[in-house]
Amino acid sequence: MSTPITVVGTGYVGLTTGACMSHLGHDVTCLDIDESKVAMLSRGHVPILEEGLYRLVEEGLGTGRLRFTTDSADAVSSAEIVFLCLPTPQGADGSADLSFVKNACAQIGPSLAAGTIVINKSTVPVGTTKVVAAALGRDDVHVVSNPEFLAQGTAVHDFLNPDRVVIGADDREVALKVGSLYLGLPAPWVVTDPASAELIKYVANSFLATKLSFVNAVAAVSESVGADIEDVIRGVGYDRRIGHDFMRPGPGWGGSCLPKDTRALVSIADGAGYDFALLQQTIDVNEAQFQRIVDKVADVCGGQLGGKTVAAWGLTFKAGTDDLRDSPALRVVELLLEAGASVRAYDPALKPGREIADGVEVVADIYESCRDADALLVLTEWSEFRRADLDRVADELKNLAVVDSRNTLDLNALKRRGFDVRAVGRT
Ligand SMILES: NC(=O)c1ccc[n+]([C@@H]2O[C@H](COP(=O)([O-])OP(=O)(O)OC[C@H]3O[C@@H](n4cnc5c(N)ncnc54)[C@H](O)[C@@H]3O)[C@@H](O)[C@H]2O)c1
Repeated sequence: MSTPITVVGTGYVGLTTGACMSHLGHDVTCLDIDESKVAMLSRGHVPILEEGLYRLVEEGLGTGRLRFTTDSADAVSSAEIVFLCLPTPQGADGSADLSFVKNACAQIGPSLAAGTIVINKSTVPVGTTKVVAAALGRDDVHVVSNPEFLAQGTAVHDFLNPDRVVIGADDREVALKVGSLYLGLPAPWVVTDPASAELIKYVANSFLATKLSFVNAVAAVSESVGADIEDVIRGVGYDRRIGHDFMRPGPGWGGSCLPKDTRALVSIADGAGYDFALLQQTIDVNEAQFQRIVDKVADVCGGQLGGKTVAAWGLTFKAGTDDLRDSPALRVVELLLEAGASVRAYDPALKPGREIADGVEVVADIYESCRDADALLVLTEWSEFRRADLDRVADELKNLAVVDSRNTLDLNALKRRGFDVRAVGRT
């Protein structure tokens, strides 16, 4: 059954939600304050790189089931369901900043029809359904938590094939109405109270971050004892209680969610009187990982980085996205610049000339990035890097020196060509 839905905020989560909900047969209006983005989307131009999203937006515009607007009253007045997909950045004290959510609620509150279900999809602290209800200024609408678990790069696939749909509502009928939006998707529903739903999202992201930091810590041990982290992960991951997902070593984790969500959970725990030292350690191990990668680059550059040029492959926070927010690659690049190096970068998702920072040049070609560089540093796991012609790379570089922070290149092929190689967790 088609339901009139409004999605507030058309970023990675909002645009995916809107496009997928229209694909599922609902009538969707997407509201944003960014006029240029709305104009672009109305013409079918998708401003972010997300596999499959362009096709769904095109489909929605074609069927008339998807439209974009900046007019909040027009957008929400006839909606039965309103999704809030607004930014919740990290505040100065580590807790989530709810100002975007509160502002949007104040804006749409007066125009909502009585009985509208307002669903919070943003990642928010426990108790935010009450904050939303207060900011809407309405006691005749329902506020529900329905956190989103999609991963950037696979957002459309994840939305349409969720592992679960979590619904936090005080009213069972309202929860069922929210669940019915997802009918047809093969996923169990977890229907619970709003506080538990809100906590589930933070716990999921914090657990994933802990897995990643744990693997990076084990990688450091592997290097010292002569073990190979790739084999260690394989051997451990076949244990069904552990699994292989989120068990990759790397330059540190980042992106728009894990850093802010781990800090927010530490802050939530703090407020509740619990010192979440385990999660704080997860964050600390990650902070140290950026410097560990820089130390490896210094190592292959003869001990110091001043005046050196580093070819960096990949700047986005992971492969498959154009998102640079809180990218671990950028954290490593920052440290390289501080140490006096300059960086020539190539990233399949970034246009040449893209401004990143003084001392960073973004070029158009994987081999151009290597020209006369003192070392090559792989920072993101784009598949294009695995397919690079290593003979050409060797010809372009000044020194045959590689740091592979994602263990993505063929170590033996590099060694056969005489490269001095540093990987993560293997020698
Ligand atoms: N990005 C992810 O992978 C991901 C995954 C799961 C959950 N989340 C959570 O979802 C939320 C949104 O994340 P995102 O990455 O989509 O954010 P985003 O920054 O990509 O998009 C937010 C959008 O909201 C718009 N906006 C801001 N104020 C507005 C207002 N008053 N009215 C209408 N639109 C407004 C902005 O213009 C922007 O287009 C966050 O809480 C995030 O933690 C993100």
